[in-house]
Amino acid sequence: MAETILIGVAWPYANGPIHQGQMAGAYLPPDIFARYHRAAGNQVLMVSGSDTHGTPITVRAEREGRSPEAVVEEFHQSFLDTWRMAGISFDLFTRTDTANHTEVAQDFFRRLVERGYLEEGIQTLLWCETDQRFLLDRYVEGICPNCGYDGARGDQCDNCGKLLDPTDLVRPRCRFCGNPPVPRDSRHFFLRFSKLQEPLLRWLETDKDHWRKPVLNFSLAELRKGLPDRAMTRDIEWGIEVPVEGYERKRIYVWFEAVIGYFSAAVEWAARSGSPDAWKLWWENPEAKSYYFIGKDNITFHTIVWPGLLMAYGGLNLPFDVPANQYVNMGGQKASTSRNMAVWMPDYLTRYDPDPLRYYLAATMPETQDSEFSWAEYVRRNNDELVATWGNLVNRTLTFTFRNFDGKVPDPGELTEADRDILARAEATLDDVGEQIRWCRFRAGLNAAMDMARDANQYLEQTSPWKTIKTDRGQAARALYTVIGVIGALRTALYPYLPFTCQQLHGFLGETGTIEEMGWRFALPEPGRPMQAPQPLYRKLEPALIAEEEARLGT
Ligand code: MF3
Ligand code: ZN
Repeated sequence: MAETILIGVAWPYANGPIHQGQMAGAYLPPDIFARYHRAAGNQVLMVSGSDTHGTPITVRAEREGRSPEAVVEEFHQSFLDTWRMAGISFDLFTRTDTANHTEVAQDFFRRLVERGYLEEGIQTLLWCETDQRFLLDRYVEGICPNCGYDGARGDQCDNCGKLLDPTDLVRPRCRFCGNPPVPRDSRHFFLRFSKLQEPLLRWLETDKDHWRKPVLNFSLAELRKGLPDRAMTRDIEWGIEVPVEGYERKRIYVWFEAVIGYFSAAVEWAARSGSPDAWKLWWENPEAKSYYFIGKDNITFHTIVWPGLLMAYGGLNLPFDVPANQYVNMGGQKASTSRNMAVWMPDYLTRYDPDPLRYYLAATMPETQDSEFSWAEYVRRNNDELVATWGNLVNRTLTFTFRNFDGKVPDPGELTEADRDILARAEATLDDVGEQIRWCRFRAGLNAAMDMARDANQYLEQTSPWKTIKTDRGQAARALYTVIGVIGALRTALYPYLPFTCQQLHGFLGETGTIEEMGWRFALPEPGRPMQAPQPLYRKLEPALIAEEEARLGT
């Protein structure tokens, strides 16, 4: 029976281009997952959008003397280009400044006020006398009281993931003038975590064996410590209006409404698709499963805050899994915008192909611990694995077959036991890769497929059809037919990881539709089927590019 899968993907702040760390951490994994599930015939809805509000946007706008709208517009377009060029296949990538999202978020807010989960109170904030303004969220930095990291922000420490209030910071300083701020009170709406603690704990302690250990342990530890009630409104002009009288000069906290985007985007998608109730299939149907793909700095918001908001709202599905990734480092440190230690996707995609990067990032995906990106490893993996193992298998098999068998799949006659054996293993590999992807073990899935490609290369060496063709054409035909069968299985198994080149290969094999239409299934090649003249799927990269690319960093 078809499964119903909601794929929520972290909403990137529209304040800068996407880099390889976000790609590996939050965008590539859901795309692999979505492509697999679509091919497997399941009902997938993959949504996200630009996170357009909050201080991440206004800090950049103020620094550059631009309006927040201009900043948002620039990077929203940049995101759309990146998804298209890198093959990140959203069903809808919207933004949080739409009328639909505003309405849905305000409705959420109102309902939570009615139900007593949002209550007014006084928050002591930090005020900068020099700049005459409240220093909320990213306007204030200081030392994290939890881990001692100097660079924690007013709402969160990116080093240890702890949610903070500005007054928690040790030695706080204004992000603009560097001066220490003074406390000042302000009226706000608070989310009553005290009322959610119990149900959240019960939920996190039940049936979570499929969660990644670091994600579950971190979430449980945070929740068991007990979360303080947190303000969900802000003294800022940029954001969604608070639907309560007297709050005209305040806005809803960006994190409160951004997570609601997962729901509002499904509502928008349904309206656009012409069946306005279709979102219910993913949000109200108890059989539907929802997955949230994020980086580790977003864990608390997705395993505690968002489930808490959903419980408070009522009637909507809670997350089934939150397969958060760790970080991709560069030179041993977290990829960084300010130090320009990152590979910017718009820049990469104008100079290189998407699949080799998808390959490298999937092979080193930081599923349980931080990983390291290096250009040397990118080149090595491309040349030694993608080109030498998989590309070469495809290229020599298809080129040789095309030339010697009239551009058609050869007729193998009777298969030997060895042939049947490797074909059976290819079929099992396809199942195995699908199973790994289902459990969000993306590296393991890729490894299983590449191991199979290695086996197929060995089989090809052993059977050497380029030799036997001179003496026993039938034997050569059988070997090539068998390898084409294995390549067919790997075309599907590798498709979620390498969608552009696998779809190209699909065409070389004489297919006309898409791999997703064909489905996640093994089928023996049809003898006599006309193939298409093959082209190399990948190209070898010159080691000289390593130094060239490294020279671009850190400047
Ligand atoms: N914009 C946030 C970030 O880049 C992520 C938001 S995920 C959301 O860290 F679901 F809350 F939108
Ligand atoms: Zn910290």
